Amino acid sequence: MEFNGRTRIMAALHGEPVDRPPVWMMRQAGRYLPEYRALRKDHTFLEMVGTPELATEVTLQPIRRFGFDAAILFSDILTIPEAMGQTVTFPKGGPQIEPVVRSTADIERLKRPDVETSLGYVAEAVRQIRAGLGNETALLGFSGAPWTLACYMIEGAGSKSFPNIRPMVHQDPNTLLLLLDRLADVVIEYLLMQIEAGVDAVQLFDTWAGELRREDYERIALPSTVRIIEALRAKGATVVLFAKHPGHLLESTLSAQPTAIGVDWRVDLAHAAAMAAPKGISLQGNLDPAELYASPEHIRARVEEMHAAVGGRTGWVANLGHGIWPSAPISGVQALVSAVRELAGA
Ligand code: CP3
Repeated sequence: MEFNGRTRIMAALHGEPVDRPPVWMMRQAGRYLPEYRALRKDHTFLEMVGTPELATEVTLQPIRRFGFDAAILFSDILTIPEAMGQTVTFPKGGPQIEPVVRSTADIERLKRPDVETSLGYVAEAVRQIRAGLGNETALLGFSGAPWTLACYMIEGAGSKSFPNIRPMVHQDPNTLLLLLDRLADVVIEYLLMQIEAGVDAVQLFDTWAGELRREDYERIALPSTVRIIEALRAKGATVVLFAKHPGHLLESTLSAQPTAIGVDWRVDLAHAAAMAAPKGISLQGNLDPAELYASPEHIRARVEEMHAAVGGRTGWVANLGHGIWPSAPISGVQALVSAVRELAGA
């Protein structure tokens, strides 16, 4: 069979044979690209997210330059808190979300958004990207997972220690579960809207899952994520679940039965493959974003090492273990893409 990027990544996600592993990169549209920085001079990040024409241009930039097998919708996970009535801004130093949500009364004040109305601009971006991308490259949609969205909604910003939500896990778990449940409803509708508009697969970003001990992850964060995955897979959707710092959570994330799990660079890929393969779940990852600063020889050796670690036991999508850094060298990205292209199939 003759593969293109789209058929290649869909086959790999479903653990079917491929001519070579597919490759894309978390945050592949972004500040490391001069063409992104050029457009960004004239627009704020939120303008770019909110304007389908700009989101389309930025989504296509890394595809033109590197020919990745998949594009990922240019957007942000914080579109959902905004649709629920919080104000999201990006002053220097990361996102700010207000007013924060801390009580049942705060949750009751949140909107139950009609996604077609309040997030219709994302569906429009998907349609325009699909049209500009052609049929040979996959388009991935995404959402934040409820726990990670709740981290931003409750803390009001990114955090190193999560001083409000982590105590809530123990002091007021029912309020937290109520918020996560509300979020799951919105995430399901949001991702179904993206699929309807033309994405081939969706990724759930649970960036802060690894902050929880396994028992708390399973009790608090996992149920809403499982509900989302079940609802989407029941409709035939392909779902990737990415958790950062997931080493202690591998069994739990696999138990959610996504099509694939994304793993970060701390995870031993051979170990993850041995756990995922019997469950028919594929893997995505897990080059350390810092390794893009290494020599092309190092990057090639690591790509071969990752490929060998997966060992044809399960489907594998080559990727970073987390988003590329704004200062990353283009040459490192090119080395990654070239090395994956030279791999054999499995
Ligand atoms: O992967 C892609 O290319 C798709 C686009 C994408 C962005 N954000 C673009 C972006 C995706 C999938 C996200 C998801 C996202 N957003 C996550 C989950 C994934 C992860 O990184 O763990 C999170 C936690 C956010 C929230 C968010 N948005 C943060 C923490 C930041 C960084 C703030 C900063 O200044 O570094 C953003 C901003 C953001 N999202 C940028 C991009 C390209 C940079 C915006 C700019 O141009 O200034």
